Amino acid sequence: MSAPRKLFIKTYGCQMNVYDSERMAEALGASGYVTTERAEDADMILLNTCHIREKASEKVFSELGRLKPLKAANPDLKIGVAGCVAQAEGAEILRRAPVVDLVVGPQTYHRLPAMEAEIRKGKRALDTDFPAEDKFDHLPRTRPKRGPTAFLTVQEGCDKFCAFCVVPYTRGAEVSRPADRLLGEARDLVERGVREITLLGQNVNAYHGAGPDGDWSLARLVRELARIDGLERIRYTTSHPNDMSDDLIAAHGEEAKLMPYLHLPVQSGSDRILKAMNRKHTADSYLRLIERLRRARPDLLLSGDFIVGFPVETEADFQATMALVRAVNYGQAYSFKYSARPGTPAAERPQLPTEVLDDRLQRLQALLSDQQRAAQEAMVGREVGVLFEKPGRMPGQMVGKSDHLHAVHVTAPDQAAGDIRRVRITASAANSLAGELV
Ligand code: 5AD
Ligand code: SF4
Repeated sequence: MSAPRKLFIKTYGCQMNVYDSERMAEALGASGYVTTERAEDADMILLNTCHIREKASEKVFSELGRLKPLKAANPDLKIGVAGCVAQAEGAEILRRAPVVDLVVGPQTYHRLPAMEAEIRKGKRALDTDFPAEDKFDHLPRTRPKRGPTAFLTVQEGCDKFCAFCVVPYTRGAEVSRPADRLLGEARDLVERGVREITLLGQNVNAYHGAGPDGDWSLARLVRELARIDGLERIRYTTSHPNDMSDDLIAAHGEEAKLMPYLHLPVQSGSDRILKAMNRKHTADSYLRLIERLRRARPDLLLSGDFIVGFPVETEADFQATMALVRAVNYGQAYSFKYSARPGTPAAERPQLPTEVLDDRLQRLQALLSDQQRAAQEAMVGREVGVLFEKPGRMPGQMVGKSDHLHAVHVTAPDQAAGDIRRVRITASAANSLAGELV
């Protein structure tokens, strides 16, 4: 038998892409590929791209330029572009980059084995459909052996059309996967050693998948997943404030397996900007929602997304964002300069000068990192659950995640990956905590 072909995937952007890359590798596994960590060894290189911000497609074209010598050295090497840039730019990629053999969008990667066979015959392949069939029905059912944490996509796409965002165009309309399939996939993951599952969706809390007794909400799905023996932790991301149902809020107080960490993007603290963004919530409704969540789960650690410099944002609007951040007190957050995305409504409006964006981002990030540091320091002396994932850099050390999603380094030489142990936090570093077994 000939040696298996090697696949190298480079993943950009969000956790959905991390999940998609795993599933693409599994799909190509059926065509005899094994993954490699080294692009130089690969027989196929896939760039799984993100289109959400700044110069994403330019980054892809320059990466493709860097891959040219590899292709010159190995004429059998095939290069593919997947993900949201593939979806948005499609044929343009094939036109501009002769090194590319294959372009596949996020909804059609179950067709990769057939496309791979095509390109091995020397053809080029493009598929950026939104097909009628569900790709998940055509991907391998059983997932390979893995570590103790896994992603599980429960919902894709978005119908919200925030004025800045390309997701509704690249990922299409919102679709939820059937609940029984998800429970099956979750049980299968648990049998393979997974202890923590993060449910994924661009709008995960809008989940409304078909269940045996009508549509299930995300809250129902979480509650049913929580009954699976051996599954110890459940998380979900990313949510929209308007889809935080009463039942989901209650689940945060009632389901011990639902971890006390929630990523709940607000984008801005100014009602004027929120309106221009088409967010359909106000700063005040968001703050009231946070209050209810904290009443349900007092130790909930909050994370968020922020955009500074949206067209027409004034200094006063920006100050409203700073005030909201102070009012919430985030444990963690992501913040971005507004970046005009072709095809979105906000891209048509006059843009603010770069210096204004830089300055506001810097001030916001200073505040957010103070809050992050304070949240980490507040953990020192506390006892937390840690799910061990892998050995740390130092001998005798393991690294894992706390309930609040902090990375924790623990001196625990004999601890197996997959164990959950009580750990006393002893110190806080830049982006992680240190602790000792209790
Ligand atoms: N410019 C800047 N940030 C953006 N995001 C989405 N679109 C844009 C854009 N055009 C951010 C939002 C979103 C996160 C995933 O990326 O904050 O929540
Ligand atoms: Fe984009 Fe808004 Fe949908 Fe989130 S809710 S994916 S920001 S359009």
